[in-house]
Amino acid sequence: MSSQSPLSSMGTPIDVVIMAAGKGTRMKSSLPKVLHTLGGRSLLQHVLDTAASLQARKAVVITGHGAPEVEAACKANTGVGFTLEFARQEPQLGTGHAVQQAVPHLEDDGMVLVLSGDVPLTQADTLFHLIAAGAGRNLALLTLEMPDPTGYGRIVRDTTGSVKAIVEHKDASPEQRAVHEVYSGIMAVPATSLKRWLARLDNKNAQSEYYLTDIVRFAVEDGAQVVAYKINDAVQVAGVNSPVQLAALERAYQHGIAHRLMEDGVRLADPARIDVRGDLRCAHDVSIDVNCVFTGQVSLGRGVSIGAHCVISNAVIEEGAVIHPFTHIDGEKLGVTVGAGSLIGPFARLRPGARLGKEVHIGNFVEVKNSTLADGAKANHLAYLGDATVGERVNYGAGSITANYDGANKHRTVIEADVHVGSNCVLIAPVTLGAGGTIGGGSTITKDTPAGALSVARVRQVSIANWSRPKKAPKA
Ligand code: UD1
Ligand code: CA
Repeated sequence: MSSQSPLSSMGTPIDVVIMAAGKGTRMKSSLPKVLHTLGGRSLLQHVLDTAASLQARKAVVITGHGAPEVEAACKANTGVGFTLEFARQEPQLGTGHAVQQAVPHLEDDGMVLVLSGDVPLTQADTLFHLIAAGAGRNLALLTLEMPDPTGYGRIVRDTTGSVKAIVEHKDASPEQRAVHEVYSGIMAVPATSLKRWLARLDNKNAQSEYYLTDIVRFAVEDGAQVVAYKINDAVQVAGVNSPVQLAALERAYQHGIAHRLMEDGVRLADPARIDVRGDLRCAHDVSIDVNCVFTGQVSLGRGVSIGAHCVISNAVIEEGAVIHPFTHIDGEKLGVTVGAGSLIGPFARLRPGARLGKEVHIGNFVEVKNSTLADGAKANHLAYLGDATVGERVNYGAGSITANYDGANKHRTVIEADVHVGSNCVLIAPVTLGAGGTIGGGSTITKDTPAGALSVARVRQVSIANWSRPKKAPKA
């Protein structure tokens, strides 16, 4: 988000409370609900990242079910840019009770933004507007009109249109149930007021829970202003309670990414058939065919073309490279670089530490791991290059492999510029093939080879004239 947080720039810090103690029974999973992933990040991480883009001072995560796991997952993801604190809620007695657990963590000078760990797609801009509506002193509620409001808290207004209360579905009269404006579950409220009102909550209601939503009544009683900031986009406030809802939100999220890519000029064969589970950056004139998956950090240079069914993670693919269908590129932590104008695949596999120069060709069923290939090197068919340094214009034959692992240690193979490695060679590392040399097909190379020489390491061919093949013995 480019916009500045309206309050942090005015000097009122934003403290975010994230409710994440609920069980998520309908996920039918041993993984806590908020740790299920959407677009490659946990639901809770989406909410934390949103808090980061709001320049929040602090986030207090309310944990309960699966608390140790949830807290560990939050801590593992460093670099959020604000103070992260946890408050346990055991047992879970309602949303009001959840926020009460955060009180000792909240300083009086802050504006508190209440979010849920299972509502991942709220946009920071929406929250900026909500906080601005709070103006540092009001209770601001994020609301929306729902065609079917069943189950939600209803926004009850008086004849002048002022918000008087939120009434939970189970407590609502038929008249109140007819209201379609619902509370989204997200509010902004000054910390001092919040603390005062939370202290007054009780659980005398249809569910015997401490409702956070009851603070609206207290605000009205105290003469504080309650404002509703209404949005139309249900996706932004949709929660995840089941695998069906998770899948629906994943589609909504991917749809948004696909549209942003196309607006940046990327040509997608079908915006409904791309999955980005991380950060995909594209220069101009990139085209992406159907069913590609991008994870982690991927950058595609100008004019790059990605064929159908490619899976690409943590890679930099430079200008004009063509990745043919069914290619798997996974840079993991080391990354993969594909140089300008290279041709990769179909059915190629580039693993961590593959660094390809310009106009390198990697063909079908070729695997490259932790190897550098200089400009113009080619390995076109059925080959393995692991822990190798490959010079310019090397031609690496079909079926050849580097035997880089002796069962205990890995060793390097150096193939100098302009070497031609025939088909079906085994290069037993550590070994160096001198520049411009030729390795005869079928050779098992165990010693360094001189520059410019033909090196052959295989049994000489013999022919026995007039050979008669064995015959079957007649049956007894
Ligand atoms: C709540 C609101 C309702 C609103 C709806 C929007 C209340 C009383 N009602 O409904 O007005 O329309 O959200 O989705 O607030 N949680 C805890 N601890 C608890 C209870 C809940 O951490 O003790 C967490 C849940 O894990 C969830 C969030 O709070 O992330 C909201 O709880 P949920 O049960 O979905 O809210 P509702 O009561 O359905
Ligand atoms: Ca709910």
